[in-house]
Amino acid sequence: MSASTAAAAAYIVAALLFILSLAGLSRHETAKAGNAYGMAGMAIALVATIGLATRNSSGVGIALLVVAMVAGAAIGLWRAARVEMTGMPELIAILHSFVGLAAVLVGWNGYLSVEADAENQTEVAGNLLGIHSAEVVIGVFIGAVTFTGSIVAFLKLSARISSNPLVLPGKNALNLGALVAFAVLTVVFVVEPNLLVLSAVTLLALALGWHLVASIGGGDMPVVVSMLNSYSGWAAAASGFLLGNDLLIITGALVGSSGAYLSYIMCKAMNRSFISVIAGGFGIQGNVSDDRDYGEHTEISAEDTADLLREAASVVITPGYGMAVAQAQGAVAELTRKLRAKDIDVRFGIHPVAGRLPGHMNVLLAEARVPYDVVLEMDEINDDFARTSVVLVIGANDTVNPAATDDPGSPIAGMPVLKVWEAERVIVFKRSMSTGYAGVQNPLFFRENSRMLFGDARERVEDILRTL
Ligand code: TAP
Repeated sequence: MSASTAAAAAYIVAALLFILSLAGLSRHETAKAGNAYGMAGMAIALVATIGLATRNSSGVGIALLVVAMVAGAAIGLWRAARVEMTGMPELIAILHSFVGLAAVLVGWNGYLSVEADAENQTEVAGNLLGIHSAEVVIGVFIGAVTFTGSIVAFLKLSARISSNPLVLPGKNALNLGALVAFAVLTVVFVVEPNLLVLSAVTLLALALGWHLVASIGGGDMPVVVSMLNSYSGWAAAASGFLLGNDLLIITGALVGSSGAYLSYIMCKAMNRSFISVIAGGFGIQGNVSDDRDYGEHTEISAEDTADLLREAASVVITPGYGMAVAQAQGAVAELTRKLRAKDIDVRFGIHPVAGRLPGHMNVLLAEARVPYDVVLEMDEINDDFARTSVVLVIGANDTVNPAATDDPGSPIAGMPVLKVWEAERVIVFKRSMSTGYAGVQNPLFFRENSRMLFGDARERVEDILRTL
């Protein structure tokens, strides 16, 4: 068997493992196996690629490959070991920028080694040269948009630049104009490949990526990160076509389509229009001034909360971003165990965008060893609140805001929310009366059946545990 046949076979196995990995990651119970499949697939892909490269390369090429791999692995391990769950979106954003940059370099390399090289040009059959040129220009375009877009997303998420949306006059016309110019330049490049046109496409795409993401408010950045994830997949697929690498095409398409689908799910959960995210420029909501009188809120102590829980028949816990900030998941898991030991029915209601990443809460609860079967999705639990004795809202705010359903003028109107207010009693764990992510006040806090338990979520849950 020749080396290239062996590599092709290895690539098919790796591609299957990547598909199994995605399938595994879609359920709690199989997520660990999913990760293992992904790692195995990547290991096989790396070995096959290195094997192929070492057969076709000189000593210098192999040395460069080894240096790049060691440096990349060291930086990757160092960052992954240090990143906090809440810092994940910005890490993902900067990693996407590398994929984008790689796609730009692969595209330029394709041009320099084929179109710009008379000797190689004759090796590509006449009608295939046009296809090659189209692959170059499309790969460079998607890669450059992903590159600068991801850098802006990283800068906004890490608060290195203001997260306010940039509002240039006629911004939609600018985006549309850039797309039209790209289409025209692509045709020109395919007919007459030249350095000037490719440079123009690169600069245009760099500017478009920057503008697209700069126009989006920080509030919607997580959706943007997921969109950029999708773009990076398509950029990798475009590179796969150029390099004639099937595995890169398959992997890129998997990342591209799953990223797009994830963005769609997030948009739906936040009642956003998918199209307006892709077009780059929604979410100009920021903090909304609101001088309405919502009435008085009532406080409760940890001891009284413990008494309520003792007498409850059923309890639902709805965690949010504050549980992640307080790192309260361990204490919450302990509370769950204690209450279940007293024959109290305890379940979790997870909103699709609770926290700052899809699946954020599920990861924290799994880490704290909360049994999967009591962790339910919003749609699975929403009809049960009316039959629930006590709901513990732990560091969640927007995801339990009744204004989303009751107030058509609210900035979050139409966003599907957990209907916690239908329960007999709602206890809200937070540190102050300040607003959540969307910057809107939450009328839940002022309802008759709501009680506020102020302070750090972890400390308050530990207080309850002591009393219990
Ligand atoms: P938020 O609405 O952001 O509310 C979090 C609450 O936690 C705040 O009210 C905060 O109040 C409280 N908190 C913070 N630190 C705390 C601590 N140490 N102890 C106790 N409480 C603490 O969170 P959510 O309900 O999870 O909603 C998520 C938001 O993020 C939504 O608006 C969603 O649209 C947005 N978002 C999420 C995603 C994904 S994919 N998850 C993507 C894009 C956008 P205090 O400051 O008063 O303590």
